[in-house]
Amino acid sequence: MREAILLVGGQGTRLRPLTINTPKPMLPVAGVPFTVHQIMRARDAGITRIVLATSYRADVFASFIADSDLGIEVVIATEEVPLGTGGAIRFASGFLTGDSEDPVVIFNGDVLTGVDIDALITSHESHCADVTLYLTRVADPRAYGLVPTSPEGRVLQFLEKPQTPEEIVTDQINAGCYVFTRSVIDSIPEGRPVSVEREIFPVLLAADRAVMGVVDSGYWLDLGQPMDFVAGSVDLVLGNAPSPAVTSPGESLILTGTTIEASANICGGTTIGKGTKVGSNSEVRASVVFDSASIGSNVSITNSIIGQGAMIGDSCVIADSVVGDFAQIGAGNELRNGARVWVNAELDELVVRFSSDK
Ligand code: GTP
Repeated sequence: MREAILLVGGQGTRLRPLTINTPKPMLPVAGVPFTVHQIMRARDAGITRIVLATSYRADVFASFIADSDLGIEVVIATEEVPLGTGGAIRFASGFLTGDSEDPVVIFNGDVLTGVDIDALITSHESHCADVTLYLTRVADPRAYGLVPTSPEGRVLQFLEKPQTPEEIVTDQINAGCYVFTRSVIDSIPEGRPVSVEREIFPVLLAADRAVMGVVDSGYWLDLGQPMDFVAGSVDLVLGNAPSPAVTSPGESLILTGTTIEASANICGGTTIGKGTKVGSNSEVRASVVFDSASIGSNVSITNSIIGQGAMIGDSCVIADSVVGDFAQIGAGNELRNGARVWVNAELDELVVRFSSDK
């Protein structure tokens, strides 16, 4: 039996207001909650039991899992108070059934990746490692903590975000998926918040434990910010990102019960959620529209997220922006450049315009 822990208890603050009603891993990506993509990938890698480490809005996971059959045993562990990444792994280990020397795969709940999970476990076992980290290379490492490794793959340091060009000693970063030997998890302090990145990894290195890094250059994207969330969904719909939950990639994904006028154009990897309406001459490009939204006529939506039940009035322009659940955007408004409209907010007609567009 192979077991895994999926960390899904964070508050998802960077994705607010989308995460007010729905925890980040339960937001729909290419038509299903992001967690489903991850559970199905774990299943396909031979993992037979997965513990969901929940905290924020744990109720949303519980009801979804109770109604689903994903071909793998799913167990829910819920922290009474959030324990951070390390504390959550420690708490979830109480729900594992394996032995102290067994490998346990840990996934961050917001990373879309094609990493070869099986190869990661094989590498972990062949090096008799305590922890094996999946590392990815990024073009611009300035926004990330860096993880240099030796030629043999041993992690040398965990470095904070580089402040100067000299501090960029590698382009390798922690990609948010690890294999832990079970006994190492059991050594994490219990019952208090612990950060695996800031506390556990540095302590293991200082104790000269075998912390290995495996660089995988396949698809990787952290969906924690709105524009990355849109990009990940678009890549899944178009077939540029791997997921067993996407069986027929295409130009767009239109779920059941929608009403889309023939003159509307849904393109660029857009997902239109269940029961959503799109009016005549509107274009929705490279965007994610959740269930039961209503989009008027002559609307242009690009690179944006439209929340559940939101209403977008006629002739609105929405680009690179987020509209929260059940918000109402009156006709003729223009939202651009990272605008976020809160859950249930109401914007009258013609309130927001951009002067550069006459
Ligand atoms: P932001 O608030 O936007 O940074 O998002 P986040 O809350 O998801 O935090 P972050 O992306 O740093 O978390 C990495 C992973 O760990 C995510 O999958 C989170 O769901 C998860 N996580 C973070 N804190 C906790 C916690 O206290 N408990 C549990 N169970 N999971 C957590």
